[in-house]
Amino acid sequence: MKTQTIILIAGALVIAACTKPKITDTTPQTTSSNTNNTNSTTTNSTTSNSPYYVPSKTDTTAKASLNDLTLGRSILLANCGICHSVPLPDNYSVSKWKSYLPGMASRAQLSASDQLLVLKYVCRGKE
Ligand code: HEC
Repeated sequence: MKTQTIILIAGALVIAACTKPKITDTTPQTTSSNTNNTNSTTTNSTTSNSPYYVPSKTDTTAKASLNDLTLGRSILLANCGICHSVPLPDNYSVSKWKSYLPGMASRAQLSASDQLLVLKYVCRGKE
């Protein structure tokens, strides 16, 4: 009987550990808008398993540079998982993001420029 209880508890712990979403992103966060687009040695190897797309050159648009998208991603991951899990960019439409983000950005105490970078990332450069 006792061993059964122990097995049950151990099982519950394993499940609890697995279901807890843990976003470990070690991308250094630079909030300055200083753009250095000549740097082409971005290492994506550590984040390739992340459900949050890692921006590459093909994601850039007229509205968002690679640097904007990369910064937007790290700001999102660093600030938007405090109260709930970090929302996935594709879970909401561009218009939904535009209505949710201002309120959430103020809860996360983001600057206006950081909020814009997050918007660019979650809207995949469409805004
Ligand atoms: C201080 C806590 C807090 C922080 C920080 C925060 N949120 Fe939220 N967020 C909430 C709460 C609470 C809700 C539930 C809906 C509500 O109360 O508006 C929510 C809901 C949401 C929703 C779902 C809205 C809906 O109605 O479906 C999205 C998307 C969202 N947050 C995005 C973000 C993003 C992006 C950031 C980072 C810029 C962020 N949140 C930071 C507290 C926070």
